[in-house]
Amino acid sequence: MHTRTLGTNGPVSSAIGLGCMGMSALYGETDRGESIATIHAALDAGITLLDTGDFYAMGHNELLIREALESSRQGRDNALLSVKFGALRDPDGGWSGHDGRPEAVKNFLAYSLQRLGTDHIDVYRIARADPAVPIEETVGAIAEAVQAGHVRHIGLSEVGADTIRRAASVAPISDLQIEYSLFSRDIEQRILPTCRELGIAVTAYGVLSRGLLSGHWTRDRQTAAGDFRSGSPRFSGENLDRNLGLVDALRQIADAKGATVAQIAIAWVLSRGEDIVPLVGARRRDRLTEALGALDVTLDAEDLAAIEKAVPAGAAAGERYPTAQMSYLDSEQQ
Ligand SMILES: NC(=O)c1ccc[n+]([C@@H]2O[C@H](COP(=O)([O-])OP(=O)(O)OC[C@H]3O[C@@H](n4cnc5c(N)ncnc54)[C@H](OP(=O)(O)O)[C@@H]3O)[C@@H](O)[C@H]2O)c1
Repeated sequence: MHTRTLGTNGPVSSAIGLGCMGMSALYGETDRGESIATIHAALDAGITLLDTGDFYAMGHNELLIREALESSRQGRDNALLSVKFGALRDPDGGWSGHDGRPEAVKNFLAYSLQRLGTDHIDVYRIARADPAVPIEETVGAIAEAVQAGHVRHIGLSEVGADTIRRAASVAPISDLQIEYSLFSRDIEQRILPTCRELGIAVTAYGVLSRGLLSGHWTRDRQTAAGDFRSGSPRFSGENLDRNLGLVDALRQIADAKGATVAQIAIAWVLSRGEDIVPLVGARRRDRLTEALGALDVTLDAEDLAAIEKAVPAGAAAGERYPTAQMSYLDSEQQ
């Protein structure tokens, strides 16, 4: 497995990480046995970075990862656990903002350590900056947890350039987790250059645009209630038609290279720089195998030009989140 370093002083990670969210929530039906088998297969293949959030089905995802690690050949010490916190939930699964107060950070952390069955988290980050709490205070609380040995590295998620600078003035930041794909390229304007200036890596999520850019999505695919994609602008109406048209154009390039659309989409993110680690949301072993195949796809200048022509920056139709959720994104406000 190729490796990449998360930030100037951060940990070494596998070049591809596994995002575990969809194994518990947001993408329809889940399968516990297959999810655990997928985590085992990822670890066996050399993936070390596992990403989760304490709010993914209210702790379910952390407990799932714990079970998978406890029954894996590699064990917890060979994994790099990236955990997001701060999102507030209700018993019906609703979302009610974010809490980045220092006392809340410590509370979230205490519960995550317990659920994950570990004495430390490798990278800890608030999922969305809390607009009521200066980022310096939230990051300062994580820095205290680093001093205490409960956390190894500090990450950020979905924040803009100004917030990144403020956070980095408090403590070293290993990586910014943010959506980045052929369909979501806004970070290229200010956010990615800022990360590079400050020696912060990017762990990119949504590299397959939540399945839309995978080559497996079809116009007639039904989504269950509660599936994020049933409310996503990119998956609805004319936007969906336009976006699947872009996927068709990408498929021609993929076919010519003997690769799949998903592999080209992941390889494109990998090609953006050694400081970028794509998190793939594989929930099944066959999807994981396909995603890992991206590591063997080399995109030369001609391929990259053809991809750019097929899917130019800004070509995808529709915002990446529904309007209400867009307002939580500090990265979209600056
Ligand atoms: N920081 C944040 O704000 C934030 C937000 C969202 C996610 N994340 C993290 O990033 C991770 C990845 O995000 P994501 O799940 O939205 O990303 P994604 O990889 O763009 O999408 C995953 C979806 O793509 C489908 N897919 C089709 N072919 C695939 C293949 N070969 N490999 C992997 N998936 C394939 C999956 O399929 P099936 O449905 O058919 O299984 C799944 O539904 C999450 O698990 C989470 O840990 C972070």
